[in-house]
Amino acid sequence: MGASQAAAGMLAAGVEVEPGEEGQLPLNRHSQQLWPSFAAELEAASGMEIDLRTEGTLVVALNADDAARLRFNFDLQKSLGLDHQWLTGGEAKKREPYLHTNTVAAIFSPGDHQVDNRKLAKALRIAFERAGGQLHEHAPVAEILTEGNRAVGVRLESGDFHHADTTVLAAGAWSRAIPGLPDLARPPVRPVKGQMAALRMDPNEPLLRHVVWTPSVYLVPRRDGRLVIGATVEERGFNTDLTAGGVMSLIEGAWRTLPGIEELPIDELWVGFRPGSRDDAPILGPSGLDGLVLATGHHRNGILLTPVTSDAISDHILTGRTSDVIRPFGLDRFIRKAASNR
Ligand code: GLY
Repeated sequence: MGASQAAAGMLAAGVEVEPGEEGQLPLNRHSQQLWPSFAAELEAASGMEIDLRTEGTLVVALNADDAARLRFNFDLQKSLGLDHQWLTGGEAKKREPYLHTNTVAAIFSPGDHQVDNRKLAKALRIAFERAGGQLHEHAPVAEILTEGNRAVGVRLESGDFHHADTTVLAAGAWSRAIPGLPDLARPPVRPVKGQMAALRMDPNEPLLRHVVWTPSVYLVPRRDGRLVIGATVEERGFNTDLTAGGVMSLIEGAWRTLPGIEELPIDELWVGFRPGSRDDAPILGPSGLDGLVLATGHHRNGILLTPVTSDAISDHILTGRTSDVIRPFGLDRFIRKAASNR
């Protein structure tokens, strides 16, 4: 019920690239490429659809300033080898006729898709239980248990113990706060609040088919007609308030790009917490404490990075090896950085 429920489900390795974060692109693209087979395998294992939609993503500009910013990002994305296309306003409107008449340009990213993240979480649960896994819900961990330099399981608030050869810390924005961790194994993760909204479109006549990024919000149309609008980015700790300003910025940002939303009913408003690490990249692999493995800090990319995280972490548990793909994203990078700053 954490970030996996709150997310929008965008698999946006391409359009989410920001200057300074190019180092994450190989990991993000690798996971993006794993998504089609991961989705097929999960749908077969769970017996349910998770609605992976492959129309791609449009990033739109509504005036000359937006277009200049878009052109800068486009040049960066092309220099990184991404297959993005530049569209005129007219070309963008051919793909999405309900976009505002002011649309002057757009980037089309043919490889940035989306999945219904709530269905994903449900399917993972079914597949996990069908494979023999036992899920203990509403059972908060009071403490990670250690013996010397080794994690040996968890103690629950109920007083029950679960002993384990390997414990995986994957508690999203809450990962830092789990008691029992020595300081060296504590991942530097904080909550980054996001307010979100969903409107209800007619599923037979949706206003959008692609994921659309506007200058201020993103719009994600679901097969069932829900139009997910996200998201604010706020450093407010675990504050769960929906605010007038937050909701207004979502609705206004969406309306400026897609005026047809005016009459749509509001389906849901919610708040989620991205697990943000100190450098915004995930924290994957060994923790420095034997028997404790980290899979956290996925920040804006948790759904995108689900396949590579599950593959690399299970491989690490089964073989003891850390694959090259996740090696740059270990907890030890923060320790190395602190040492080199001394
Ligand atoms: N990846 C979208 C978000 O974090 O809002």
